[in-house]
Amino acid sequence: MRTAASDISMMNIFFLLEALLLVDGVFGVDVKVSLSVMEGDSVTLKPHTEIPEEDSAQWWFGDNIIAQMNKAAGHFSTSKGDDVGFKDRLNLDNQTGYLTITNITNDHTGLYKLKIKTTTEKSKTFSVTVHGNMTTVSVKEGESITLDTGLVEIKGYDLIMWKFKNQLIAGINTVNNTLKYDERFNGRLQQYRQTGSLIISNSRNTDSGDYHLNMSSSSHTVQRTINVTVSGVSDTQTPDPGVSPGVVAGIVVVAVLLAVAGVIYHCWKISKLKRPKDVAENNGTNEFLNKTALEANSDHL
Ligand SMILES: *[C@@H]1O[C@H](CO)[C@@H](O)[C@H](O)[C@H]1NC(C)=O
Ligand SMILES: *[C@@H]1O[C@H](CO)[C@@H](O)[C@H](O)[C@H]1NC(C)=O
Ligand SMILES: *[C@@H]1O[C@H](CO)[C@@H](O)[C@H](O)[C@H]1NC(C)=O
Ligand SMILES: *[C@@H]1O[C@H](CO)[C@@H](O)[C@H](O)[C@H]1NC(C)=O
Ligand SMILES: *[C@@H]1O[C@H](CO)[C@@H](O)[C@H](O)[C@H]1NC(C)=O
Ligand SMILES: *[C@@H]1O[C@H](CO)[C@@H](O)[C@H](O)[C@H]1NC(C)=O
Repeated sequence: MRTAASDISMMNIFFLLEALLLVDGVFGVDVKVSLSVMEGDSVTLKPHTEIPEEDSAQWWFGDNIIAQMNKAAGHFSTSKGDDVGFKDRLNLDNQTGYLTITNITNDHTGLYKLKIKTTTEKSKTFSVTVHGNMTTVSVKEGESITLDTGLVEIKGYDLIMWKFKNQLIAGINTVNNTLKYDERFNGRLQQYRQTGSLIISNSRNTDSGDYHLNMSSSSHTVQRTINVTVSGVSDTQTPDPGVSPGVVAGIVVVAVLLAVAGVIYHCWKISKLKRPKDVAENNGTNEFLNKTALEANSDHL
């Protein structure tokens, strides 16, 4: 009985040790982190391992070195990645040694390994799978917009955040299991707890724009920008659907009444103006007549 119990505790210690090795990637254990991303994503691999000043470190993609650094010598380079199709896509953080692959494509599916040469060689391996493409979404006004994380489940990520116009609009924090929504969307947002994907229901034109996804864990960060276009629904309809026929009829009746009133007022105004003018004209004529009469008279003088 006693031997069985100690066997079990030995096993627990063994598992615990193994778990620690997996987490820290120490003692040359080749740790594997698997991540699944989409074309166009920006992916940051975070080895979580201190890179000693005087040691050199190399990032490998399959059998090729794609980036290398030596802090003490102040040497950082991603140029070797150009030869194997990473041109302008790699960024090496000169403090942390984090490697970022921007606008990743299918060709970049594979194993990424950071090797640190100390007295013994340490390494950490990431398995990256690139599939799908979620760069644009087009819907008609009123339809719902689905912004996909591409994940089957968010396990492994601490934070899944969606941003729009530099504002956090929805997010899941798996550490304290909280969910947050932006009130400006008036309850039209829904984020799946299992996948982190976001649904915006009853879309409006003002929902158009770039949405930014940020999924982060201690070992990697994935960023994605999705261009959403919400197009109007009324391009094929001739009358303005916002005005009902009843309202149109009402407007016509009011317009006719105003026109009639205008005509009546105009006639009244003309007749009112005409009277004194007629009088003046008459006066004028009278003056003319008088003048001619005077002239006529003067002729006689
Ligand atoms: C996504 O797919 C579309 C067509 O399917 C293509 O035009 C576009 O280049 C792709 N985007 C990326 C980032 O691969
Ligand atoms: C590290 O990168 C930053 C910003 O890219 C730069 O300002 C700094 O000089 C770099 N440090 C070294 C040691 O290259
Ligand atoms: C991403 O890469 C694709 C080709 O794979 C290219 O067509 C597209 O313009 C790139 N996008 C950006 C933002 O660089
Ligand atoms: C959850 O954690 C985040 C920081 O990681 C914090 O901002 C937020 O207030 C926390 N929420 C709750 C309910 O504790
Ligand atoms: C993504 O989230 C991580 C962790 O919170 C943060 O360090 C990083 O700056 C974020 N990136 C963007 C573009 O918001
Ligand atoms: C998003 O897509 C629309 C139409 O497809 C385009 O007019 C707009 O320039 C795009 N925005 C960005 C930031 O790429």
